[in-house]
Amino acid sequence: MDGAGAGYGEALFEPWKPGEGERIDLGSMAYDTFTRARLLALGAGPGTRCLDIGAGTGTISRWLAGEAGVDEVLAVDRDVRFLEPLAGGALRTLAADVTEPGFAPGRFDLVHARFVLMHLPEHRRVAARLCELLNPGGRLVLGDAVDLTTAAPPDTPYRLAMRAMWQALRSTIGTDISWTPEYPRLLRDLGLTEIGAEIQVPALTAGSPIGAFWLETWERTREAMLATGLVDAGLLAEAAESITSGSVADLSPGLVTAWGRRP
Ligand SMILES: C[S@@+](CC[C@H](N)C(=O)[O-])C[C@H]1O[C@@H](n2cnc3c(N)ncnc32)[C@H](O)[C@@H]1O
Repeated sequence: MDGAGAGYGEALFEPWKPGEGERIDLGSMAYDTFTRARLLALGAGPGTRCLDIGAGTGTISRWLAGEAGVDEVLAVDRDVRFLEPLAGGALRTLAADVTEPGFAPGRFDLVHARFVLMHLPEHRRVAARLCELLNPGGRLVLGDAVDLTTAAPPDTPYRLAMRAMWQALRSTIGTDISWTPEYPRLLRDLGLTEIGAEIQVPALTAGSPIGAFWLETWERTREAMLATGLVDAGLLAEAAESITSGSVADLSPGLVTAWGRRP
């Protein structure tokens, strides 16, 4: 992880900084429809207990406990400031670090983590631990970023900015998305069955939630992006303008969701 020492929420994306909850919500606006449909298809509903890891602002946890009618939802995050106001009824919250060896919140029919493991250098060990938290027949559903285009030419301002962002995230908090297309194999290696995976890429158009999410993320990562030497302030401004104006004409990074069943 290139010497990264601090984790998510420490060196970057600190939850106490103004606007961080709104930034996470922009990601939720872009992806919740897809995630909800997948979780419903995998049986989330009455009669099930669910664990949402790294629940962020709780949009998925709240939906599971409300509209989806799940019996019990445990929303876990290292920092539960956005989750605590949502607690009540079927929704409980727990402040915990999923990488801690003693992390043992119980057994569940569905364990979900979106945009969490990509930030954890020990993602394999954490995924194995999450499998152990499943009841027999339970489903593990993991989602993370996948980037289909921006590592390759042409070297447009947008692609260079994305490359600088991934490099900056890797060197500051250890984020790594190089392995996420291997999710199906990872879940099979962990002993899960009935494995499936899919990718959703939201349209990167002017005014889109995903466009606003990247603009906010670049703003928060700006110093680390500049430090990569891949971009300068002028190029970052051009990249941002291409998103704001809709002239970008490219694919956004997307969400790869993979799932499997504990035998
Ligand atoms: C990018 S946000 C994703 C939030 C939510 N899952 C979503 O998709 O909207 C990552 C979340 O994971 C949490 N997180 C990061 N590392 C964690 C860890 N080791 N244990 C528990 N939560 C963690 C962060 O605090 C943050 O709320």
